Amino acid sequence: MRGLLHRYADRLPQIGADSKQYAALSLGEGSTPLIPLLNLPQAMGVANINLWVKYEGLNPTASFKDRGMAIAVAAAAADNISCVICASTGNTSASAAAYAARAGMACLVLIPQGKVALGKIAQAVAHNAVIVQIDGNFDDAMRAVRVYSDSGKVAVVNSINPMRLQGQKTAAFEVIETLGSAPDYHALPVGNAGNITAHWIGYSEAASSGTAACHYCQGNCTTCQPIAGGEKRPQMLGYQAAGSAPFVNGNPVANPDTVATAIRIGNPQSYEAAQVVLAESNGWISAVEDSDILQTQRQLAALEGVFCEPASAASLAGVINDVKSGRIPAGARVVCTLTGHGLKEPDLFPLPALASTAVGDLAAVIEQHLNNR
Ligand code: F0G
Repeated sequence: MRGLLHRYADRLPQIGADSKQYAALSLGEGSTPLIPLLNLPQAMGVANINLWVKYEGLNPTASFKDRGMAIAVAAAAADNISCVICASTGNTSASAAAYAARAGMACLVLIPQGKVALGKIAQAVAHNAVIVQIDGNFDDAMRAVRVYSDSGKVAVVNSINPMRLQGQKTAAFEVIETLGSAPDYHALPVGNAGNITAHWIGYSEAASSGTAACHYCQGNCTTCQPIAGGEKRPQMLGYQAAGSAPFVNGNPVANPDTVATAIRIGNPQSYEAAQVVLAESNGWISAVEDSDILQTQRQLAALEGVFCEPASAASLAGVINDVKSGRIPAGARVVCTLTGHGLKEPDLFPLPALASTAVGDLAAVIEQHLNNR
């Protein structure tokens, strides 16, 4: 098994005296597939572009958080810290709980009451985290956790921890490795805007001249080296749910609301960093309606066999809108990150009414199905 600290040791911060020692805490994060879409582009009216999805739901705890958590928890272990804490809309808590369990650490998570997908809570329970439900939203939980960020007693493993972004930048390396160069556009769902920032760090490091550390790593990576084919950087696109779109509004949202609970965030922690990403990459952040998010999630599952959670579908839904409006031009090469797995929220796909069929009638059922196609 080769986790991120094995694969990218020379591009990640040194952890303790010997990063390899901490590489053993890996759960095999990263190396997720970049899947070219075959059927959906035609069905959803965007066959004029080249579209790939980076399926981050195939990480060990089924979201992109594992890339960052592998590095953040390893760094905490090297600092002899025995407890990690985080605020979370669900995926961060699942990932923190798993990596803390592996490292023999305690894990405390703060989640907004009633707004976290059941599968994500089940993960935190299974990995033995201490779960505190708060009568408030993610932004309230984050405010409470931030107080401990410099305590030295516990490690805050939200994306305000720079190790998180260092781990998450590796997704950009993988995209370049697979495509042979960066795409024209890279689209992500945006909550705190940590992940879009991390991707831009990755693309920027890959494009660096190698003569000096690029300014994104802030001295955190040992060497900024160019990656073959990485000279070009994409335009970065972010998509927020319309009811939870502080970047689009230009102000924090006091009561964010969306079916995509993972990105139900009104006060993004990486607000300023993301503005730099947009300016430097000539990118943009726009909003998508919940109805578009859900329809895209369903179409992707039904037409491509790729099951992502609602928040993840925001990137693809937004790209579809922007291709149709002409903002993304025909012929563009576009990568959409699918941040988390659809199995985290199975209640969105309740079992339809099923007729029971006698075994002997199976042939008739098959026949009828074939005739209906
Ligand atoms: N997609 C999913 C599935 C997420 O869980 C998150 C964030 C995002 C997108 C947005 O990423 O915050 O870096 O812009 N989830 C955090 C959590 C907030 O607590 O799990 P971002």
